[in-house]
Amino acid sequence: MFGCSEEPAIKGKDGKKQLIVGFSQIGAESSWRTAETESIRSEAKARNIELKFSDAQQKQENQIKALNAFIAQGVDAIILAPVVETGWEPVLRNAKKRNIPVILVDRGVKVSDESLYTTLVGTDFVLEGRLAAEWVVEKTGGKANIVELEGTPGSSAAIDRQKGFSEIIAKHPNLKVIQSQTGEFTRAKGKEVMEAFLKSSTNKIDLVFAHNDDMALGAIQAIEEAGQKPGEDIIIISIDGVKGAFEAMVAGKLNCTVECNPLLGPVAFDAVERAVAGETVEKRIMIEDKVFDQSVAKELIGGRKY
Ligand code: AHR
Repeated sequence: MFGCSEEPAIKGKDGKKQLIVGFSQIGAESSWRTAETESIRSEAKARNIELKFSDAQQKQENQIKALNAFIAQGVDAIILAPVVETGWEPVLRNAKKRNIPVILVDRGVKVSDESLYTTLVGTDFVLEGRLAAEWVVEKTGGKANIVELEGTPGSSAAIDRQKGFSEIIAKHPNLKVIQSQTGEFTRAKGKEVMEAFLKSSTNKIDLVFAHNDDMALGAIQAIEEAGQKPGEDIIIISIDGVKGAFEAMVAGKLNCTVECNPLLGPVAFDAVERAVAGETVEKRIMIEDKVFDQSVAKELIGGRKY
């Protein structure tokens, strides 16, 4: 077992104690998620940190098991990307009891005691929803029938993006969300739900708002298979800013993407190292969001890092 005071500290190349960090990842539902995993893995390697990686396959129970295993192994810190917002208090209390800092990445949790985690590193999901809606208002002149592809139910990413989007849409009576359903942040489910929307909708669908790019890419396929032109007959906006979204914008099939940067490794490990050193870490470390539409896609696609 490591982390016990009587054990000799494992030394890194620089002679300092090598940190051991447990990372509980949600899964691999989207290209965004894969980029986030890669960013955390490569940053751990660059800092000579031993990373214990666990893929939860979208299940909170698997994340809780992984966290309890990390705690039992005596890791120096835990990085957690929580699949849903609620249900974390017992395991976070367990980590706190053992003085193991927990750094949340990208998604947030709802807890009665905020001292149960060290910090949340990530973008502002409510703002992303608002930015998407503001673009919709501008693009449509405030009149459109909208269908919404939601992310994983209970996740802060889905809850907050919907909140920000509907807040702005509600101010425009001729912008109507006519159908809304989860596509679970995956391309396959996004396609399936879009097919169902196209079959069941009695009104013309003018616009798709997808909580992530992968679902939008699935919706594009469904629209094409239904004989319509994505990006022209139906306007599409999504969130993430992955390379696939830029390719779809260059091809004229996606109209806009709101960036949510997944390259969180460097900032997350800065927080880990500060927390382990006993420094105070700010409760929220915000990563900036940007909006990209077709007008800039061609110029910027070459520089996309994920
Ligand atoms: O939590 C961030 C969201 O989760 C990303 O938008 C999505 O692609 C991912 O799966």
